[in-house]
Amino acid sequence: MTPSRRRPALLRREAVVATVPVAVAALLTAAGPATAAGSAGAPGVGDPYFPLAGNGGYHVSHYGLTLGYDPSSGHLTGKAVLTARATQRLSRFDLDLKGLKITGLTVDHRTAAHRRDGQELVVTPARPLRKGQTFRVTVTYQGKPGPVTDPDDSLDGWIPTDDGAFVAGEPQGAMTWFPANNHPLDKSAYDITITVPKGRTAVANGVLLGQSTRNGKTTFRWRQKEPMAAYLATATVGTFQVKQYTTRDGIKVYDAVDPREANAAAPVLKKLPSVLEWESGLFGPYPYRAAGSIVDHAPNVGYALETQTRPVYDSAPSLSTLVHESAHQWFGDSVSLTSWKDIWLNEGFATYAEWLYSEQHGGDSAQKNFDTLYATPATDSLWAFPPGNPGSGANIFGTPVYARGAMTLQALRVAIGDRAFFRVLRAWAQQHRYGHGTTAQLERLAERESGQNLGPLFQKWLYRPGKPSTP
Ligand code: TRP
Ligand code: ZN
Repeated sequence: MTPSRRRPALLRREAVVATVPVAVAALLTAAGPATAAGSAGAPGVGDPYFPLAGNGGYHVSHYGLTLGYDPSSGHLTGKAVLTARATQRLSRFDLDLKGLKITGLTVDHRTAAHRRDGQELVVTPARPLRKGQTFRVTVTYQGKPGPVTDPDDSLDGWIPTDDGAFVAGEPQGAMTWFPANNHPLDKSAYDITITVPKGRTAVANGVLLGQSTRNGKTTFRWRQKEPMAAYLATATVGTFQVKQYTTRDGIKVYDAVDPREANAAAPVLKKLPSVLEWESGLFGPYPYRAAGSIVDHAPNVGYALETQTRPVYDSAPSLSTLVHESAHQWFGDSVSLTSWKDIWLNEGFATYAEWLYSEQHGGDSAQKNFDTLYATPATDSLWAFPPGNPGSGANIFGTPVYARGAMTLQALRVAIGDRAFFRVLRAWAQQHRYGHGTTAQLERLAERESGQNLGPLFQKWLYRPGKPSTP
């Protein structure tokens, strides 16, 4: 129930597809200030917590990633083919890539000039791209990838393990293993092909198209058709026990489990279809055609991530963690953030799903969870900052985001009643499916569904510092 399993670092210190790109294009266009002189794409999309995350001036519709990984040396070879569309005239543009060595870079098959500047990979095509032009960027690269250290000292990105790599990119780590427009504002389809030594398994997002073994190596081909933010991509490698089946609803499930975690994981993973069915009943249809779990043995990681269609766990998850990561498929993955400041829209909703699961399966009610948390003294870390305004990237996975974020939803439920509240949850998932949502949009939706002015409630629970003086 507490985020501690997912977030040890902090606690130690204490309709569809076609509607999306329009809105995204508008946001991305706004982010890239094109001067007449240069018409260079901006080095970031303007996220206050991660100023260099993502890039201005284009939208990536598809990533084709072809990777090879050798766990014994830690060496990665990569080829990334990005299909993108310019949202402004572009004399040059940036990608995000940290570390690794670039061995070739073309734009529309012509060699393009490029230079590295920290995490920015600055690309100057042979000729400028017109506004609205579709273009293809091909980057070949190699090296020994490693994780990034986040502002809160946790690791994300490509995290080597004793038998492969745990790959989880929230919030920053996608750029440690492929060149990306690395911000949730830009969502894209992915094809991910990974070759690993025979006997190892490489698991990415979406549907497994096929696998083949040749010369002691096995290649896995994965396809993620529905739009995905870069941070939700994975290519986790290990020695895994694999299980595949199709649910009653026709969802293709692929589970990959480290044998050291298999006994503990089995009873929980078995519940995935019933959890997804239960969540579909509350939130509307599951957004993807594929599902599953990746259960790694990665004691140095300390958290799980809702990698799209197939969450990745650093060890066998509890049932509530499975419920949490599954709820993110609706809230966080299908409905994405426009800014990391809004992270409570991900973590508050996923935590609230845990409370609802408990309430409807013979455990504590959501109100009981709320009451227990409200009883903590004002000096508790729960009240350290308001969840709608964490203040910096160092706080985005802090206790208030999870717990007070979920309390906000319970306060909303009490204020507007069950009928309106559950309509809001469904409508939120449906109206922003495969797209984006902001806190202001959620507030407007709840006001429409309830006919109430909810400004004071959102203010009190999301934005006002300190423990609210009344529950
Ligand atoms: N979003 C994850 C969850 O709550 C937590 C998480 C993702 C995380 N990336 C992280 C925690 C990086 C710490 C560090 O399910
Ligand atoms: Zn979460």
